[in-house]
Amino acid sequence: MKKILIIGSQGQLGSDLSKELKNKSGIEIVTLDHTQIELKDKSSVHRSITGLRPDIVINCAAFVRVDDCEDDPSHAIEVNSIGAGYVAQASAKIDAQCVYISTDYVFDGSKNTPYSEDDPAYPINIYGISKLSGEHMVRSYCPKHYIVRSSGLYGLAGSSGKGGNFVETIIRLAKQGKPLNIVQDQTLTPTFTKDLSAAIAELIDKGDFGTYHITNSGECSWFLFAKAILDITGLKTELTPTTTAEYGAKAKRPAYSVLSNKKIEEIGISLLRSWEEALENYLSLRT
Ligand SMILES: NC(=O)c1ccc[n+]([C@@H]2O[C@H](COP(=O)([O-])OP(=O)(O)OC[C@H]3O[C@@H](n4cnc5c(N)ncnc54)[C@H](OP(=O)(O)O)[C@@H]3O)[C@@H](O)[C@H]2O)c1
Repeated sequence: MKKILIIGSQGQLGSDLSKELKNKSGIEIVTLDHTQIELKDKSSVHRSITGLRPDIVINCAAFVRVDDCEDDPSHAIEVNSIGAGYVAQASAKIDAQCVYISTDYVFDGSKNTPYSEDDPAYPINIYGISKLSGEHMVRSYCPKHYIVRSSGLYGLAGSSGKGGNFVETIIRLAKQGKPLNIVQDQTLTPTFTKDLSAAIAELIDKGDFGTYHITNSGECSWFLFAKAILDITGLKTELTPTTTAEYGAKAKRPAYSVLSNKKIEEIGISLLRSWEEALENYLSLRT
C-alpha cells in the first residue's frame, strides 16, 4: 500500500487530486488543508510530514492571488518558495517523493510557440518569481521530485484563494447582466483540474522524476475562453475584447504562456483533451 499525502486538499487541484487518487487501488490518501498545516511554519510542516510518513507528498497549497502577490511579496515568497522548501526538506528526510505544482507564469511570454521544460524561465511578476524559487527549493532539497507546471486552472471546488475561478466569475457577472471587458492579448491554455489530476496520478506511477508541463490541449486568449463559456452556457451579456494595457492589472502577465506537453507524451502519458472539451465537461458537472 502506497501512502500519498495531499497538502492544500481543499483547493481546486487538491480536491480533484484527492478524488482521483481515492479511486486507485493500492493507494492510501491522507489530506491536509490550511486549518491543519501552515506552510509558513517550519515545525508545522515537518511535524505533519514526518508524523504521517507518506511515500509521496503532493504540495497543491499556494498563495495564488497574482495581483495580491505584488502587494505582499514576502508572504508570496514565504508560502510559495520557503514553505515549498520546508515540504521538500521534510519529504527528503523520510525518503518520500515530493510533487510541487508550478505555473506557466515562470515564463516571460516573449515566445510565440509553446514553452518546453528546457526553455529558460524569466518570471515577470512576484507570483512567478515565488513559484520559480519554490521549484529551485524542491530541486535542491528533494532529489526524488516531480515539478508539474500548469496553466489557467479551474476546478469544481473553485479557488478559495481567488474567491472562485475565471469560469465562475464569468458566469456570475453574465447572470448579473454586467458587461465584460476581457483581455485578448494574453494567450494560454485553460486547464481543468480534474484532467490535470488524472495526468498527475499517471505521472507519479512512472518514477521518472523531473520537471513536466501538463495542460489541456490547444490555446486561446482569456477573451476567447470567456466567449466559449458564454456560448456553451447560453448566457448573454456584452463581451468586449480589451488589451492588457487598457485593463491595467497590478501584476504584469506573460503575453504568451502556452506549455508544450511533448515531454509527458514521450514518457507514455496521453495528451490531455482540448481545453474546449474540458470546459464543456466542467460546465456539465457543476451544479
Ligand atoms: N489557479 C491557477 O490558475 C494556477 C495556474 C497554474 C498553477 N497553479 C498552481 O497550482 C496549484 C493549485 O492551485 P489551485 O488553483 O488549486 O489553488 P487554490 O484552489 O487556491 O488552493 C490552494 C490551497 O492552498 C491553501 N493555502 C494557501 N496558503 C497556505 C498556507 N500558507 N499553508 C497551507 N495551505 C495554504 C489554500 O487554503 P486557504 O484558501 O484556506 O488559504 C487553498 O486551499 C498551486 O501551486 C498554484 O500555484 C495554479
